[in-house]
Amino acid sequence: MIRAKSPAAERNKGPILEVLRRVLPAEGLVLEIASGSGQHVVHFADGLPHLRFLPSDPSAEARESIAAHLAHAALSNVLLPRALDVTSSGWEASIDEALAAIVCINMIHIAPLEAMYGLFRGAAARLGPGAPLVLYGPYRFHGAFLAPSNEAFSRDLASRNPAWGVRDIDEVAEAAGSAGFTMEEPVAMPANNHVVVLRRAERHGAA
Ligand SMILES: C[S@@+](CC[C@H](N)C(=O)[O-])C[C@H]1O[C@@H](n2cnc3c(N)ncnc32)[C@H](O)[C@@H]1O
Repeated sequence: MIRAKSPAAERNKGPILEVLRRVLPAEGLVLEIASGSGQHVVHFADGLPHLRFLPSDPSAEARESIAAHLAHAALSNVLLPRALDVTSSGWEASIDEALAAIVCINMIHIAPLEAMYGLFRGAAARLGPGAPLVLYGPYRFHGAFLAPSNEAFSRDLASRNPAWGVRDIDEVAEAAGSAGFTMEEPVAMPANNHVVVLRRAERHGAA
């Protein structure tokens, strides 16, 4: 099995881990949505041994790579990857274990908007009050790109698939708010990316 290696994940896994140290809870199971190669989950599980991690990806190729990284790293706090697609209704019901947090890196701009909505809906159904949903990626801020490279990246995404593109932080906050999350101040990261921490509100709707 091939351990895929994304150069970007190699660069950003360290800075993301430092934010996760601050925002993740002290114990419990952390679900990763859209794990991709598996480089992130191995790095996070190694750096946060008091937590357990559950990687996932809808792509069979990605799950093979994640499994290969896990076999190589031999960590006791990571479960085998699951096939999860957040655009499938009820995706969250396929996980039996209680979830302390959810992490999703570089997905909402490389998928149709339905994926962001599906992620927020399912995450809200599974996270308890105050539990974090942590996003990472590039964002527009109030209509403006932070750098020409982000704008070029967004144009490139849209040329590959018109439903893809760098999301505006206001659009993300509104969709997250409708699902029952409040957004913390985004954390600036290298290369014009941000970590966005959404916390499940204390009370939302009938739940
Ligand atoms: C750009 S890759 C990011 C992978 C990894 N998180 C990283 O940052 O290196 C986007 C990932 O999103 C996953 N993805 C796309 N649509 C998805 C969906 N509807 N539900 C869950 N994951 C999805 C893809 O399979 C792919 O692995």
